[in-house]
Amino acid sequence: MSQILLGIESSCDDTSAAVLRGREILSNVVSSQTDLHARYGGVVPEIAARAHVERLDLCVEAALSEAGLELTDMDAIAVTAGPGLIGGVMAGVTFAKALAMATGLPMVGVNHLAGHALTPRLTDDVAYPYLMLLVSGGHCQFLRVGGPDQFARLGGTIDDAPGEAFDKVAKLLGLPQPGGPMVEAEARSGDATRFDFPRPLLDRPGCDLSFSGLKTAVLRARDKSLIDGALPAQTRADICASFQTAIAETLARKSRRALELCPEATAFCVAGGVAANQTIRTALEEVTDLPFVAPPLKLCTDNAAMIAWAGAERLALGYRDGPELAPRPRWPLDSNAAPMLGS
Ligand code: KG4
Ligand code: ZN
Repeated sequence: MSQILLGIESSCDDTSAAVLRGREILSNVVSSQTDLHARYGGVVPEIAARAHVERLDLCVEAALSEAGLELTDMDAIAVTAGPGLIGGVMAGVTFAKALAMATGLPMVGVNHLAGHALTPRLTDDVAYPYLMLLVSGGHCQFLRVGGPDQFARLGGTIDDAPGEAFDKVAKLLGLPQPGGPMVEAEARSGDATRFDFPRPLLDRPGCDLSFSGLKTAVLRARDKSLIDGALPAQTRADICASFQTAIAETLARKSRRALELCPEATAFCVAGGVAANQTIRTALEEVTDLPFVAPPLKLCTDNAAMIAWAGAERLALGYRDGPELAPRPRWPLDSNAAPMLGS
């Protein structure tokens, strides 16, 4: 019989609870806080933490009811224990501990990034080791995933994450947030060859990336193109298309390098919100003959099903956590095995 897990996620601005039976997602409820933070131009940690506290039990209740199950039907509880905004992580961990204590169910703490990085094994038959490119608003890294607790960082951004660059460029061009989908929509009617934006760090060995110079180049192009203080619509579309192509090409070239560093990879996988971008997806697909796995968007962005899955993989290795499980604002993936040893 497949194990049934309750997953809980609250590390940023989405409160989420999910029920997983084996690889079957019985429910995956995500309560987004975008509206709460919109007027502040970014996530406000105190507001996020309070909202998680208010919403966690509602999300868990909704996830159980959608799955048609009770808490006592669960075999275990998996919860994000970091990294993330500490107030939110604390809310989730405390809530999970209370549920575990009340029910006697085993609990396992999960690294949020491990949740993203293991998602391809939830959606597809991907064998270890594989290469994962994690590209979101907060993260950009190449990982060799060798097991549920085996992550090696091969490289990543030295400044902004690509999603952050999309969001900032949208802001510079007067487009609404989140910027990624807006820039992509604008780019559809743009000429990607009009502006020759930089492809940063291509001259450097390895697979580190940088996106802050690209943003500055966009700012310069915008300022140079203003006519009577306004940016012509076609120019805006051309900037979006040229910027998007620069990101796609840079990610593709560096992915090729990362694959060279991981010759035994069985697949090339991507996760994170930026993986929703069609131009980027297409560029990455062409990088290798290995199977290319990009989970559906709903599982690429923050959600509790990926936490339940990562928890199931950790439980299978014998990991368990007790009341001493500590929420961690920082928790590098390469050290993923260490904190749980002996627990
Ligand atoms: O993974 P995610 O939902 O959240 C975290 O960052 O954890 O990623 C959100 C990021 C945002 O920066 C958003 O602008 C970007 O992903 N994004 C996109 C697209 N859709 C979302 N970037 C480029 N093209 C898109 N279609
Ligand atoms: Zn995330």
